[in-house]
Parts: sequence; C-alpha cells; structure tokens
Amino acid sequence: MKITARLALALAAAIAGVLYLSSYLHVQSDGLRLSLMALGLTGVSLWIIYWRVARPLDRLTLWMRDIRAGDEARFPVRARALETLVAEASRLAQSLGEARAVAEQEARLRHRADAVWTAERLKEHVRRQLEGRPMFLVANREPYEHCRKGKAIEVRTPASGLVTGLEPILRACGGTWIAHGSGDADWDVVDARGKVKVPPHDPQYTLKRVWLSEDEMDGYYYGFSNEGLWPLCHIAHTRPLFQSEDWARYKAVNEKFAQALLQEMAGTQEPCVLIQDYHFALLPRLIKTFRPDARVAIFWHIPWPNPEAFDICPWQTAILDGMLGADLIGFHIQFHCNNFLETVDRTLESQVDWERFAVRRSSHATLVKPLPISIAFPTPQTAPAPALEELLKPLGLRASAIGVGVDRIDYTKGIVERFRAVERFLELHPEQKGEFSFVELAAPSRTLIQRYQDLVAAVEQEAVRINGRFQSKQWRPIVLLKRIHSHEQIEPFYKAARLCFVTSLHDGMNLVSKEFVAARDDELGVLILSRFTGAARELRDALLINPYDIEQMAEALHQALTMDEREQARRMASMRRALKDHNVYQWAGRLIEELAKIPSVDALTGPSEPGT
Ligand code: F6P
Repeated sequence: MKITARLALALAAAIAGVLYLSSYLHVQSDGLRLSLMALGLTGVSLWIIYWRVARPLDRLTLWMRDIRAGDEARFPVRARALETLVAEASRLAQSLGEARAVAEQEARLRHRADAVWTAERLKEHVRRQLEGRPMFLVANREPYEHCRKGKAIEVRTPASGLVTGLEPILRACGGTWIAHGSGDADWDVVDARGKVKVPPHDPQYTLKRVWLSEDEMDGYYYGFSNEGLWPLCHIAHTRPLFQSEDWARYKAVNEKFAQALLQEMAGTQEPCVLIQDYHFALLPRLIKTFRPDARVAIFWHIPWPNPEAFDICPWQTAILDGMLGADLIGFHIQFHCNNFLETVDRTLESQVDWERFAVRRSSHATLVKPLPISIAFPTPQTAPAPALEELLKPLGLRASAIGVGVDRIDYTKGIVERFRAVERFLELHPEQKGEFSFVELAAPSRTLIQRYQDLVAAVEQEAVRINGRFQSKQWRPIVLLKRIHSHEQIEPFYKAARLCFVTSLHDGMNLVSKEFVAARDDELGVLILSRFTGAARELRDALLINPYDIEQMAEALHQALTMDEREQARRMASMRRALKDHNVYQWAGRLIEELAKIPSVDALTGPSEPGT
C-alpha cells in the first residue's frame, strides 16, 4: 500500500476512534470533543513521525557505525522517507569497503616485505595467526571511563601506561576488553551484559565491564595488588603489606573475572586470551582448567624481583601456580624472565628448561619470554610545537626553556628525587634562575592508600620548599600541575620542552620516555632516563642516570640544556628509529604469534565450565 494511503487510513482510524470514544463516554461538549480529537491527531502524528522518521534515522546511525567498523550489512529496514539518504550512504559504504580492501592488500604486501609494523599490518598478521579465533583481553583498568559531569556524561581515558600500549591493538584487531567498570556513569551506557562498543565516537571493539563492590576494590585492588604485589615487585624500598583478608578478596575477584571471561568465551573455539598484569596472577590457571583449548598469555607489566625478595610473600606458591596455568608469560626484559624462572626453580616442584626458557609441570609447559611493550608509532603528524610563551602564559609564568615530567604520583617514579635534582642544578648553575623551569604533569593515583596520600603531600611540599628558595615574580623553578592530563594536553609540553626527565626508582618499561621521543618529529630535545626502567635497554641514546644520585641528575640537566642541536638530532633520530622498529604493533604481533604457535589441546578432555 502507498505511504499516502497508509497515512490517510491511520488518520481516519484516529478520528473514528476519538468519535467512538466520545460517544461511548457520552461527551456532550463540542469543545471537549474537539480537544479529544486534537489530542488523538497529535498522538497519531507523533507515532507516525517516530515510526517513519526517528526510528529509521536511529537505525541509519547504527548501520553507518557498523559500516565504519567494517561490518557491511544491508540497511536493516525499508524507509521510503530516507531512500535517497540510504542510497548515498550505501555508495559511501561501498567506497569505504574498496578502500579498506586496498589497505588490507597493501598490508599483506608489507607483511611479506618485512616493513614497519602498522595497525593494518598487525590486523593482517593477527588474521593469519588466529584464523578467525576470537581475542579476549583482560585488564583491571578499562580504556574508557564514563563519568558524570553535571547532568552530562563525559568519556575519560585513565592515566595508564597499560591503556596507552594496548588500546591501539584492540582498535586494530577488534575483540573484547574485559575490565573493572570504574567510572561513575559506566553502568548507564552498557547493555544488559555490561557491554558497550568503544571508542565511543568510532566503535571498533567491545568493552565488557565487571562490577566490583567497595569491599572487593579495597581488598583486591588497593590491598593485595597495590599494597602487596606492587611494592614487592618494585625495588623502591617500600615495604609490602600482606593481609589475609586482602588475599581472600584478590582470590574472589580473580574468580569473578574468570566467570565473566568464561561466559564471554562460551561457544567459541580455541580463543586467544591476553591477561594483563599483577592484578590477575590466578586467572591463567582458572581459565585453563575449564577451557584447555584456550591459548592463554599473561603479560606482567611490572618488574619481577629476585627469589629472595619474592620469598617474603606468604602466598607465593599459589601466585606462581596461578601464573603457570598460562601457555605464555611475558615480561618486558630478559632480566625479569630470569628472576621469575629462578623464583619458580626455588619454590615449586617443576622442571625449568633454561635452554628454551620454559617451565614444565605435569603435562603442561609455559614459555617465559621477554617482550618489551611500546607505543603506537609512527603517529599521524600533529600540530607543531607551541611557542613557549603561549604555553606558559595561562600559568602566569615566563621561562626561556622548560623540562617536562609526566607521571602518576607513585613512589616508584622518583618525583621528589627529580625535584631535588632541579634544586641542585640551580645551586650549581645560578645563571639558570629565571630561565629554566621544570613542569611536572602529575596525575593523582591510588589515593585511597595512605602512602599515596602521604606521597602527594611530600611532592607538593618539596615543590613549595624549592620554589621558596629561588622563585621570582614571574618565574618559578618547579611548576607542579597536579591532575589527570589527556594526551592532547600533554603533547604540547612534550613538543615545547628542551628535555624530558624520567627518574623512576624502578619501572617495568616506562612509556612516557617513548611518548616523548614519538612526539619529537623535529628531532630535537633530550631524554634523561633512569637506568632502572625497561626503556633504558632500548633508548640507549638517552642520557642515562641513577635516580638515587642527585649530583649526577643535576649534571645531566646541565648537559641536556647545553647540548648542541646536531647532537640532539643524532640521539633523537636514533631513538626514533628504535621506536619505529619496535612499536606496539610489533609487540602485539610477536605476542600473538608466540601464542598461536603453541600446539592445541583437545578441548573435549577438559572439565565443563562452572555454573554453565
Ligand atoms: O605500570 C604498571 C601498571 O599497572 C600499568 O599496567 C598501569 O598502567 C599503571 O600501573 C597504572 O596503575 P593503575 O591502573 O593502578 O592506575
């Protein structure tokens, strides 16, 4: 039936309905009868507008989003009113599909030619390695948090090296990222299974949120993970705190994530599971027990200490056993792999194969590999460096050169030591007063833990003390900007700075150093880098320092500020080459390739999933 005929029919039905209703209700007044009729007509018109226009427009939006994500289905409903729009969008989809096919073809060629790793090349590589098997990533931290701001909901990216490193991979390859839903509006935007497509404005993969109570967070995240394992694994001379209630919560939350993951994996075959970090040491075993067909890797983003240091953990056997459920364990550097293997050798009944760097227990083998994580590089060209004057104006400051530091406020980062180095530098080089400022972009972190609160206070006090010694009306040596900064806000500081100062007392990798190098497409600027970071093994042209040696750090500041541009360019170009050869796409490519190589186990021999 033609649309006009349908409309006429609907309107006639509405009028007849109202007339019948008014006679049924014995409505005498003409005015009331007319009002009822107007009401009826408005209702029908709204219904028609919704059905013929608003609903198809909604569908159109979703359909276009799917097309952008590579799902080129036909437009799901017939909508005459939008016919031309749908036809145009279909042509656009076709061109997009063709462009995508060309890009994939190029990626295939590049794959063969062993060129730079890009998102496209990784996508092609993963497609070949996994042959359609799905990919799941589990991390405590989610890549996007939905947070309330007045009545609106805004999306935030947490300050996290893990997110910086892993997000481009999911964008490239798709899959499901399972994480704790930590934003106060997270619940409002997910579907009934706790899922939402992200990135919010360009959906490429699924984020599945797991909800944790305050008690669970206290024990599992703040307690065992960050008061126990964090100081245990970082040699920063902060004493770990082990409490049995925290351990109980840690176990329970690992089980909760295992349930969520097993549910997501139901119906899949030989899925690829990438577990992230020290929050989930028990998860590999929990997953492999119920899904022996899954290929499971756990990547430990923080250092692994020597066996004597690890020996103080009351639950070390359970932790090692949990991790060894994985097929592959990754650390940033060989040194941490060796520490781990020695710890296993001393603690568990097992066979450590030092030739292959593997551990065999019963019939299961776990490979232990160094896989240094990185960032997405090369990045698309961004805005050039802003004028220093403009960057400092909103802060009410003037300086002729700045250094930059970017950190979560954590005792492993050596922020107080860094400030003292700036102080010593100004004592040794008073001519730099009024000229050089150090800008610290510091994100408060884990602030429910007392030691982190104390650290924030100590960092602030130290900045005030040092500034008090040297500052003038429009200049101060230390500019402490204490809040979470987005990448877009950090980038201008990276670009305008004469140096980036990374002084971690101990750090698994440290991606800030790599981000600074990536930002410097002018090939200028100097990286001063703690030799106790994983990054120091790769970025050999940084000025390497010992963060416990204040004199040496002050000297490095002087060297950086007086280094001629040719020397800066030589060092920066070499570090950028290293970054190009070892970017995060290459990291993920290696990780997934190693995992895919592991021979499959007959899924039918394993027990069935719990609760399913
Ligand atoms: O560097 C170790 C690490 O756990 C990262 O994996 C993560 O990016 C960072 O610490 C931040 O920690 P949190 O998620 O506790 O803020």
